[in-house]
Amino acid sequence: MKKQLAKVINEALQNDLSIEEVEVLLEKPKYDHLGDVAFPCFTLAKKYKKAPQMIATELASKIKADFIKEVKVENAYVNIFYKPLPIAQNVVANIVEQQNNYGSKQQNGENIVLDFSSPNIAKPFSMGHLRSTVIGNALANISEKMGYNAVRINHIGDWGTQFGKLIVAYKLWGDKEKIEQHPIQELLKIYVKFHDEAEHNEALNEEARQAFKALEDGDEEATNLWKWFRDASLQEFKEIYQLLNVSFDSYNGEAFYNDKMDRVITELTEKQLLVQSDGANIVQLDNMPPCLITKNDGATLYATRDLAAAIYRHETYNPAKVFYVVGHEQSLHFNQFFAVLKKMGNQWADQLQHVQFGMMLMGGKKMSTRKGKVVLLADVLKEAVNAAMTNIVEKNPTLVNKEQVANEVGIGAVIFNDLKNDRMHDIEFDIDQMVTFEGETGPYVQYTNARIQTLLKKGSYNVNNEPLNYLDEEAWLVIKQLEEFPIIIEKAFANADPSQIAKYSLQLARSFNKYYANTKIISEDSKQQDRLTVAYAVSTVLQESLRLLGLASPEEM
Ligand code: ARG
Repeated sequence: MKKQLAKVINEALQNDLSIEEVEVLLEKPKYDHLGDVAFPCFTLAKKYKKAPQMIATELASKIKADFIKEVKVENAYVNIFYKPLPIAQNVVANIVEQQNNYGSKQQNGENIVLDFSSPNIAKPFSMGHLRSTVIGNALANISEKMGYNAVRINHIGDWGTQFGKLIVAYKLWGDKEKIEQHPIQELLKIYVKFHDEAEHNEALNEEARQAFKALEDGDEEATNLWKWFRDASLQEFKEIYQLLNVSFDSYNGEAFYNDKMDRVITELTEKQLLVQSDGANIVQLDNMPPCLITKNDGATLYATRDLAAAIYRHETYNPAKVFYVVGHEQSLHFNQFFAVLKKMGNQWADQLQHVQFGMMLMGGKKMSTRKGKVVLLADVLKEAVNAAMTNIVEKNPTLVNKEQVANEVGIGAVIFNDLKNDRMHDIEFDIDQMVTFEGETGPYVQYTNARIQTLLKKGSYNVNNEPLNYLDEEAWLVIKQLEEFPIIIEKAFANADPSQIAKYSLQLARSFNKYYANTKIISEDSKQQDRLTVAYAVSTVLQESLRLLGLASPEEM
C-alpha cells in the first residue's frame, strides 16, 4: 500500500522526490480520525523555499487514485484516507491464498546460526537460560519466516575446572541411584558440599585440579563420569525443552571444541597477537580489558572455546548472521572475543551479534538458584500449567481436552510474558498475572483466536476465494493491522526483537475484540460471509504470530 501511495505522490510532485524518498517520509497520523497515512511537507518546504502549509494545500489537490477516498490538509501535513473496501479485498485475498505463509519471504538458501539456551551441566537451568531459550527459539522461527535456514545450537556448558571438582565430590560422597533419579539436584548438592569442605581442606582443590587434568588427558574413568554427568543433565534439560516445545539441531557444547583450540592459539601466535602476561596468554584490545586465552597452567577458557566455536561454525555453516542469545551481563565477553576475531582478520566477525536481555525478577528481586536452594524450572512451569487449569475449569468446565489446553495456555503464558517486553528490560515473573485471559497476556491472544474459531464453526464458515463484497466501518482498523503484518516481521528480524510480534498480536486481538463487541458477526444475512472472512483472516494471522513466538493456538479454551 505504502509503495503504491508513494508512487502517486511522486507523480503529483513530478518526480521532485523519488518514490523511495516519499516512502520513507510517509508516517502514521497521531490519531486514526486524522487519516490512514500522513505525508509531511517540511522537506519540500526547504526545497521549494515555500511555507510547508502552502505546499501541502497545493499537493493535496493533485493526489488522486482509485484507492484513495479523501485527501485533507492539516497544517504541514497531507493526510490521506484510503478506500477501505478495495484494500480489505486485497489484504484478505492475500491471507486466504497464502494462509500461514502470509508475510513469509522466499527461501534464500542462507543460514542463520542461533546459539541459545546453553545451560551448564550439573547446574540448574536458570531463569536466564529460560529467557535465552524463549527468545532464541522465537528468533529462529522469525529467521525461517524471513527465508533463512535456521541452525539451532545449544552451546552446552560442559567443560571447565568444575568437572574436576565434581569428579572428586562424586568419588567421595556420590550416590549413583540418587543421581540417576534427580541428576541436577544431587550433583549440585555434592558440588556445594565440595566447596564447603574445600574451605578448610586445601588438598581437595589439588585433587580436583588433578582430576580435571586426567579428564583433559582422556583418562577413561574420568571421561566416563563426565559423560554420565552430561547425559543425565541433558536428559533433565530435555524435559524442559519438551514442555516449551523447543528443539535443537546441535548440542555441541564447549567440550566439542577441545581439539579445535590449538589451531586458534597457533594462529594467534603466528599473527603475533598473543602476549605473555604473568605466565598467561592474552590478546590486547583497544578500549577494553584484554581477552584471556590461556591461564598460567596452560588451561584454556570460556573465551578460547568461543573463538574456536565461531571459526568452526563459520567454516561449517557459512552463516549470514550468528545470534548469541545471552544475558547482558556477558556483553564484555562477547565484545572481547568478537574483537579478537576481527584482529585475526576475519571480516565475517561483523555478522556476529550478541542478542542481550535483562533479568527475570520475582517481587522485584532477582530469582535465585544459589546456595543449594534450587528453584527447579520444570516445577515453575508446571505451576503455570496448574494456574491455567484453574482458569479453564472456571471458564469452560465442559472442555474435553483440558490437560492439553492447560499445557498450551500455561506454558504459552510464560513464553508470552517474556516476549511481550523489549528484551533489554528486566521482567517480572508473576504466574497469576501472566495466565489471565485478559490484559496483555498470551492467553488473551490465544483466547481471542479460540473465540474466532468458535464463531467460524457457529457460522459454518468455509474458506473460499470469493472477493470481499462488504466491510463494516468498524473493521477498518483490523484490516490496516492485518496489512502491517509482513512489515512487523521484518522489523522483528532486523532488530532481533520478538516483542514487535507479541505487541502486534495484542493490538490485533484488541482491535478485533472491539469490532466484535460492536458488530453482530453471525448476522444471518448477506454480510455474514464477509464478516466471517475477516474473522478468519484475523485468526490466521494471530495463529501465525503465536507460532512464531513459540505458542500453540488451542481451538477451544
Ligand atoms: N553456558 C553459558 C552460561 O550459562 C552460556 C553460553 C552462551 N553461548 C556462548 N557461545 N558463549 O552462562
